[in-house]
Amino acid sequence: RTMSSEKRFKIFVTRNIPQKALDILQPECHVTQWKSDDPVPRSELLKNVPGIDGLYCLLTDTIDGDILTAAGPSLKAVSTMSVGYDHINLAELKRRNIPLGYTPDVLTDATAELTVSLLLATSRRLLEAAEQVRNGGWGSWVPLWMCGSGLSNSTVGIVGLGRIGMAVGQRLKPFGVKRFLYTGRSPKSDSHLLPAEFVSLDDLLLQSDFVIACCSLTPETTDLFKTETFEKMKSSAIFINTSRGGVVNQDDLLEALESGTIKAAGLDVTVPEPLPTDHPLLELENCVVLPHIGSATVETRTEMSVLAANNLLAGLKGHPIPCQVQF
Ligand code: NDP
Ligand code: DGY
Repeated sequence: RTMSSEKRFKIFVTRNIPQKALDILQPECHVTQWKSDDPVPRSELLKNVPGIDGLYCLLTDTIDGDILTAAGPSLKAVSTMSVGYDHINLAELKRRNIPLGYTPDVLTDATAELTVSLLLATSRRLLEAAEQVRNGGWGSWVPLWMCGSGLSNSTVGIVGLGRIGMAVGQRLKPFGVKRFLYTGRSPKSDSHLLPAEFVSLDDLLLQSDFVIACCSLTPETTDLFKTETFEKMKSSAIFINTSRGGVVNQDDLLEALESGTIKAAGLDVTVPEPLPTDHPLLELENCVVLPHIGSATVETRTEMSVLAANNLLAGLKGHPIPCQVQF
């Protein structure tokens, strides 16, 4: 079967995506798509990739050597509609010389905004308080009822002062934060903008009133937050995670929240996702769990989908990819 000359490339799209992104791809690509809001089953992914030129995927798809082998030598580019790429085996891509597109920057503001929202919801106990209104727990105005912790004069520790970590810091600064600390693999040249001091993880844990995980998930950050980490934090500390669920040992977090080792936690990301509705973390009043909505504004998700489409098309044509993961 010959393809029309305009539709030069065969691609597989692993989910329903915004029409704007499809409008970019369809004129030049023969698009096969998993038309669902649910992730493509692994077996369907394996069935659909043989012979494709390009793969447009999401953070819920594990792209490993088996998928790339199944796709075969025709595969020229992979594009993920996410900034995180921990679901993709970079070594296997590199081995095959296949470039990877991703979506940094366009989601930074939305994700930072959500991180601040989650921090405030957790520190000021918003969900717990709203629940009290509904269930009759709201009595009279009581001096110490439903009191939380304020940002004013606080020390905020950011684990991973990257694009999102920096944007979180900038949004928190006007709340009157006294000191920003951060940790990571190396000091950041723009940290003076907060300003934020580069410290060891231990120092950050010992000194911070709020500990915010904004790092990427890597072998080094997997289970970074575990019992010994929580034990170094202040018992009044509030822990926020909008990075990936895998940076936290959830059993250890549960224990730390139940025992009062730390005061509260706000999570936008968990393992697994979705978190089962009977998960013990959901029974805790001092834990706020959101369903991975960091980048969830209509504008941002649309921009991400469009950038991912442009990345894929550029990769297919052998042009410079607007946002390419360096490896
Ligand atoms: P960046 O690459 O700009 O930032 C990642 C940061 O992680 C870097 O500053 C890096 O620091 C740091 N980091 C890496 N390894 C370590 C380590 N061992 N210890 C501490 N810090 C480390 O990425 P973004 O800010 O754009 O995104 C960050 C992550 O946020 C994404 O990878 C994704 O997982 C998550 N995310 C979640 C969203 C959500 O919906 N909840 C939305 C968007 C992103 P250094 O350079 O020093 O290594
Ligand atoms: C990402 O892009 O990595 C987020 O988790 C979703 O926007």
